[in-house]
Amino acid sequence: MSDTLPAPARSVTRRARPRHYAMCPASEFDVVYAINPWMDPSAAVDRDRAQAQWWTLVDTYRSLGHRVDVMAPVPGLPDMVFAANGAVSAGDRTYGAAFAHPQRQPEAHAHVDFLRSLGRDVTRPRHTNEGEGDFLVLADRILAGTGFRTSTDAHDEAAAVLGRPVVTLELVDPRFYHLDVAIGVLDDGHGDAPADIVWFPGAFSESSRAVLRALFPGSWECSASDALAFGLNLVSDGLNVVLPHRATGLAEGLTARGYRPVPVDLDEFVKGGGSVKCCTAELHA
Ligand code: ARG
Repeated sequence: MSDTLPAPARSVTRRARPRHYAMCPASEFDVVYAINPWMDPSAAVDRDRAQAQWWTLVDTYRSLGHRVDVMAPVPGLPDMVFAANGAVSAGDRTYGAAFAHPQRQPEAHAHVDFLRSLGRDVTRPRHTNEGEGDFLVLADRILAGTGFRTSTDAHDEAAAVLGRPVVTLELVDPRFYHLDVAIGVLDDGHGDAPADIVWFPGAFSESSRAVLRALFPGSWECSASDALAFGLNLVSDGLNVVLPHRATGLAEGLTARGYRPVPVDLDEFVKGGGSVKCCTAELHA
């Protein structure tokens, strides 16, 4: 009989790595159409409040030592503040977006121009995809959502353009219409620590849950209330985790796992169906 006990989990020291973000001011933000279940065009947006919340997010990143480049908002494109959707970058390559809904399609060109002005090599897509809304970049692979916005053809195209294998994950709940509201990347796996995620199983098909459990054994599965508070729409530098202030259960769990929660109030953007990560494009290593 063996009474061997499992080895205690190696305790990981969380480390911050400087990041490069691209963001678009909220001066055009509004809810004038409904393309996800959170959007209600009859509910007024307080644009001054939205702009103040957005600047607090920029200041938060900068005070953590990160670089934030700000792109020019385009009049008449009220969702452009959700800059994560404009492209996905890994290493020195960038794969542009092709939005699913006609209301957002013109945003893609503005992102290409802006990213090229930063010197990025941007490939325009052939297939429908919403950038980092549905592509989460890790050091050795990319997690990719489908079901509402991004096509699986785009998953193949992204793998070829970005040179990293792509793992397809199927989203099944319309409230979690993008992958970045269903999975939060806490550590992208570039340093000593392995990649680490927190995710909400209810957002995924049965087979995609199994894929995630196989890829990330023992990973943190969060409550519906934290997921519905947009808690997974977070941005982590490997140590500091900027997340919506209403996701209080997540904040507690982060501390227990060695991360430093940095709550911010982005409530105005929930009216558009987004929060921290949606407002933040990362030019990933
Ligand atoms: N109103 C926008 C849409 O439905 C919100 C996008 C949120 N962005 C994100 N990365 N999840 O497209």
